[in-house]
Amino acid sequence: MQRLANKRLVLGVTGGIAAYKSAELIRRLIDAGAEVRVVMTSAAQEFITPLTLQALSGNPVHLALLDTEAEAGMGHIELARWGDALLIAPASADFIARLTHGHGNDLLTTLCLAARCPIHIAPAMNQGMWASSANQNNIQQLETNGIHLIGPGSGYQACGDIGLGRMSEPDDIAQILADSFQTGSLTGTQVVITAGPTREAIDPVRYISNHSSGKMGFALAEAARDAGATVTLIAGPVNLATPDRVNRINVVSAEDMLVATTECLDHLSLNSSVSSEGSIIFIGTAAVADYRPDTSATQKIKKTQGNPNLTLQLIENPDIIATVAKRSPKPFTVGFAAETQNVLAYANDKIARKNLDMIIANDVSNKDIGFNSDLNAVTIIWPEGNKTVDIASKAIIANSIIQQISLQL
Ligand code: C5P
Repeated sequence: MQRLANKRLVLGVTGGIAAYKSAELIRRLIDAGAEVRVVMTSAAQEFITPLTLQALSGNPVHLALLDTEAEAGMGHIELARWGDALLIAPASADFIARLTHGHGNDLLTTLCLAARCPIHIAPAMNQGMWASSANQNNIQQLETNGIHLIGPGSGYQACGDIGLGRMSEPDDIAQILADSFQTGSLTGTQVVITAGPTREAIDPVRYISNHSSGKMGFALAEAARDAGATVTLIAGPVNLATPDRVNRINVVSAEDMLVATTECLDHLSLNSSVSSEGSIIFIGTAAVADYRPDTSATQKIKKTQGNPNLTLQLIENPDIIATVAKRSPKPFTVGFAAETQNVLAYANDKIARKNLDMIIANDVSNKDIGFNSDLNAVTIIWPEGNKTVDIASKAIIANSIIQQISLQL
């Protein structure tokens, strides 16, 4: 079921008594981490209300093709593009016939025509209707067209008959759908990444910070997501768009970053399904300020005539990654060592001192790579070995790092 995490599913509900099972199906899909948008035909609305499916899916239910209000939000073509898969459950005999013949006379058939993602149908109908040659010809044609059939099952039917035609159970549909997606190297894991600089206030208008752009952390968030992980990005002040399907928490200071990190990891640890060994990964890419002013003035500090010196008293900030590495159970903890000299020696020292599982060493003295650049070159170091990744885009470097993490878990 982990393969459904972060997946976008369009669930089409057509008119049949099995529509009541769609409510349960939505729960299963959402529990597995998918985002669900529901489309109902008008016949489906005779069996279950849009309000029920809206409440369960947490998204507005799409009902009509020619609804100006809905089209102004997410139009039918956008909805077709949005989905990673389209599932029609229950799929009635009438809907199956219309789908077979390429009709586009309502929202759901139009979506099926426009969709480029896989389409799955879970038929539900009386056993006589299912066995009819017209329906069987349609099913055969749909399978030839590349549409995936889930079920139907056999057993007692609402009409009193016994036979083939019952919609498959929600658990089975969700499992078959999950199995249709490929697993990534981090499927089933939760990845928490800190990124960017922190800002340490001197007064309401001034702060201490550094040149970190956050690009490496954001690239890692994308790579981890593409490897199947659920990703939380805790970002200091950076000028970067949030990667698609990544949960972002914005922070300003090192202290804020520590609070956000602790809360996030506490929340993940409480969730028993992700608290097993190797299922939580923490990557500290943030360039956390080591020191902050011991007090932040409440008013702007004024320049005093005849006083050429201003002394700021600094105090040490908490070490976020070292705090994470002391947790029990300990997440797989990956640090960064941005150095200007003796890069490998400092990195090896840091891995031991901060109790890390891996460290990514890079030389920030080279102006072509590192801070603010789209390029980087790193050495990935773990207790039993190391690997150098030559100069490349931060996206490529991020993929190598994620691949190495998955091998060490
Ligand atoms: O000791 P140094 O700051 O070079 O360590 C770098 C690593 O430690 C990075 O992974 C950085 O995100 C993390 N760090 C931290 N909290 C600090 C300082 C550094 O998490 N206060």
